[in-house]
Amino acid sequence: MKVLVIGSGGREHALVWKIRQSPRVSHVLCAPGNAGIGELADLVSIAPDDIAALARFARDEQVDLTVVGPELPLTMGIVDEFQRQDLRIFGPSRDGAQLEGSKAFTKDLLRRHEIPTGFFSTFTDADEAKRYISEVGPPIVVKADGLAAGKGVLICTEVKEAHQAVDEIMVSRLFGDAGQRVVIEEFLEGEEVSFIALTDGRTVVPLASSQDHKRAFDGDSGPNTGGMGAYSPAPAMTAELHDQVMRKIMQPVVDALRAAKIDYRGVLYAGLMMTEAGPKVLEFNSRFGDPECQPLMMRLRSDVVELMEACIDGRLDQVRVDWDPRAAACVVLAAAGYPGNYEKGKVIRGLDGLRQWTTGFVFHAGTAQRGGQVVTNGGRVLGVTALGTTVDDAVAEAYRGVAKIQWDGMHFRSDIGHRAIAHGS
Ligand code: AMP
Ligand code: GLY
Repeated sequence: MKVLVIGSGGREHALVWKIRQSPRVSHVLCAPGNAGIGELADLVSIAPDDIAALARFARDEQVDLTVVGPELPLTMGIVDEFQRQDLRIFGPSRDGAQLEGSKAFTKDLLRRHEIPTGFFSTFTDADEAKRYISEVGPPIVVKADGLAAGKGVLICTEVKEAHQAVDEIMVSRLFGDAGQRVVIEEFLEGEEVSFIALTDGRTVVPLASSQDHKRAFDGDSGPNTGGMGAYSPAPAMTAELHDQVMRKIMQPVVDALRAAKIDYRGVLYAGLMMTEAGPKVLEFNSRFGDPECQPLMMRLRSDVVELMEACIDGRLDQVRVDWDPRAAACVVLAAAGYPGNYEKGKVIRGLDGLRQWTTGFVFHAGTAQRGGQVVTNGGRVLGVTALGTTVDDAVAEAYRGVAKIQWDGMHFRSDIGHRAIAHGS
């Protein structure tokens, strides 16, 4: 089989790494990829949002399966277009991807089906949004409706701050068209957990539990990022909570989408808050989490291609997913300044010393090849991922890998896994 992966982050490197291990796969391509992916797959220089060019390529090259990493092509309808051309592709349809692409769509769906989430209201008028904020009072969360690269969420502790947030999103259009509508939402307190599952539109197969670290700095301080590290399993996800999440959230959402005649086959990722009243939905993503995908692919023993095909063909009720009983942890190494402005083109040293690493792997995100050297080419640069008997051991092993890598301005969190370790894993 010939498989094309779309994207260029640590998530896509982990997917390419795992897809290559499938006995059914002879050839992996990646558009556009990065320096690390280039060692495992043929890189194709097409942007993830150039759907017409990707479809043409898949047809001309007789690609058997296309796997979409990031959300943007999904919300643009890449799956619908590939299906129109009879090309096999893994991911939800454009309507399905609204679950990530529109917070208002998702909140309405959750409310209609009485799926646990914070109270909220949606506005297209800034003054009405502000009146609602004054009525409800702080703390309150103001969200741009559309995709805003993870930045469109403002948690406000004062009315004035929340009013300003509405102006930034709706009037100044800080996040562009994503701010045509705002969702004003209850502030939920508790521990945050990622719940990632596969679905064929009917059956939901949960993947191993995982947890990421969204804030830039140690102690969960600083601005939100795409994720500075992750680990699996997440001890916060007890068997009882897992059961509750499946019964009250995951299965009902998939059933609700099917009832609405929305084709949702692919990854369903719920961001949940474990509140005193039980798990509640913060958001959904229609793709694998990054960096969560890195520890997950490292622990997955089953053939990932088999699982993806079962989603596409509606046979997920017949699959079994096997996991390495060991834990895995990923530490993200980022460029100085990330998640704000950062420089590119810094030479990365130490990668060769980790080539023979048997208990870990360095997944690349923002990297490029330049004159025989690997240089930084993005905000999140590498995901140093390792296995260990416990999360604690996996984290320690990942940091042993981190200690070998260096570039000018490299920064990372030194407390990845601290919550799991506090849970006594
Ligand atoms: P989202 O993109 O909706 O996941 O929001 C990004 C981050 O903001 C989440 O990972 C949470 O840490 C935080 N967040 C979002 N919504 C809420 C909420 N209703 N209450 C508390 N924190 C929230
Ligand atoms: N790590 C969070 C995300 O992928 O959205």
